[in-house]
Amino acid sequence: MIVPVRLEHEGLVLLDQRLLPQEETYLTIVTAAGVADAIRDMVVRGAPAIGVAAAAGIALAARGARDESAELFRTLLDDAADVLIAARPTAINLAWAVQKMLDIADASLAGGASSAETADAVEQAAHALREEDVASNRLMGQHGSVLVPDGANVLVHCNAGALATAGYGTALGILRAAHAEGKKLSVYATETRPYLQGTRLTAWELIRDGIGVTLITDGMAGALMSRGDVDLVLVGADRIAANGDVANKVGTYTLAVLARRHGIPFYVAAPTSTVDPECSDGAAIPIEERHEDEVLHFLGQRIAPEGAGARHIAFDVTPASLVSAIITEQGIVRAPYERSLASALGMTEAEEDEAHPSDAAEPAEAAHETPVDPPTEKAASPTEPDDGDELFH
Ligand code: MRU
Repeated sequence: MIVPVRLEHEGLVLLDQRLLPQEETYLTIVTAAGVADAIRDMVVRGAPAIGVAAAAGIALAARGARDESAELFRTLLDDAADVLIAARPTAINLAWAVQKMLDIADASLAGGASSAETADAVEQAAHALREEDVASNRLMGQHGSVLVPDGANVLVHCNAGALATAGYGTALGILRAAHAEGKKLSVYATETRPYLQGTRLTAWELIRDGIGVTLITDGMAGALMSRGDVDLVLVGADRIAANGDVANKVGTYTLAVLARRHGIPFYVAAPTSTVDPECSDGAAIPIEERHEDEVLHFLGQRIAPEGAGARHIAFDVTPASLVSAIITEQGIVRAPYERSLASALGMTEAEEDEAHPSDAAEPAEAAHETPVDPPTEKAASPTEPDDGDELFH
C-alpha cells in the first residue's frame, strides 16, 4: 500500500507528490513550520492526508517542547497549530486534526501529566489518527462499492486516492473495493488542471493497483456524458457543510451539473471528519485561491503571453441538491442531509437543532433535495438530457 505520510523517529516522512509520477522521493520534515510549508507547497495534498500530516506537525512541536514547562509547552503547541491551520483554508480535516491533538494535550496536562508524557500522548494520538483514516477509508470502500455496478464507467476528478489520505483512498478506495470484489471497471480520470492530480497521481496509483484508467482533459467530461460513456461520477470532498453542500477540487461543480443534466448519479466519498457542522451551508466554506503563476506556467515555464493575468480558484462548492449520496465510514448518507449528516456525526436531534435553529423551525426545507439515482443500477438513459430538471428552467 502507498504510504504518503508517516511519522517516524527522524521526523514526518512525506512522499513528495509534486514529483510524481517521474520520481518517488520522500522528504523528512522535523518541525511544524516545515510541515505547514509542505502542505502549502503541495508536497502532501488531499483533505485527509493534510489532516494526518498536520496532526504529525503538532506531534513534532510537542517533541521539540517536551522539556519545557507545561505552560510554555502548551503555548508552543498553540503557535504550531496557528501556523498549520493557516497553511490551506478549505479542507476542514486540517483544523479538525489539529484541534484533536490540542484536546489530547489539554486532557493529558489537566490529568497532571508532564510535558514529556503529554508529548508522548500526542505522538501516539497522531499515529492513531493515521491508522483510523486508513480504517475509515476501507469502511467507505465496503459501503460504497454497492453503488458501483459491474461493468460501470466511472468518472473521477482530482485525486481522492491513497495519496490524498493516509492510505487506500476515499473515492478511489471505493473503486479499489469494487475491483477487489471482481467487478470490471472503466475509470475515466479528469486531468485536473492546473496541478494535474488526475494525470499524475490518480493514473499513477490506479495503474499500480492494476485498475485501468483513461485520462480526459477537464473540458471533455460533457462530451463523454452526452455519448453515454459515463454511468456514475465519484469524487472526494474537502469540506461538507451541515446541509450537504460539498466543497471539492474546482471543476467538481461543473461535473455535478453535467451529471444532473444527463441523469447520471453523482456521489461524494468522504469521512465524517470532512463534515463541518459549523458551516450551515456552502457559502460559509472558505475557498482557497492560489497564485496565478500556477495557471500561467507549466512545468516551470510561462505558457501564457506576458500581460495576461489568471485566477486560480482551487475549489468550488456543489450544492447538496446535485449530490445523489455521500458515502462515509458510517454508511451511505442521503438527503435531507441536515438530518442524515448529523446522525452520521453522532449528533442528537437536540444538538443539531441547537447548531442550526432555523432548520429546526422548518425541518421540511431539505425535502425537495431529492437524490437522482437508483443506487445499484446504471442510469437508464444517460444520453438523454434530463429536461424536466428544475436546474434548467
Ligand atoms: O488541492 P488538492 O490536491 O489538495 O485537492 C484535493 C481534492 O480536492 C480532493 O478531491 C479532496 O481533498 C478529497 S481527497 C480524499
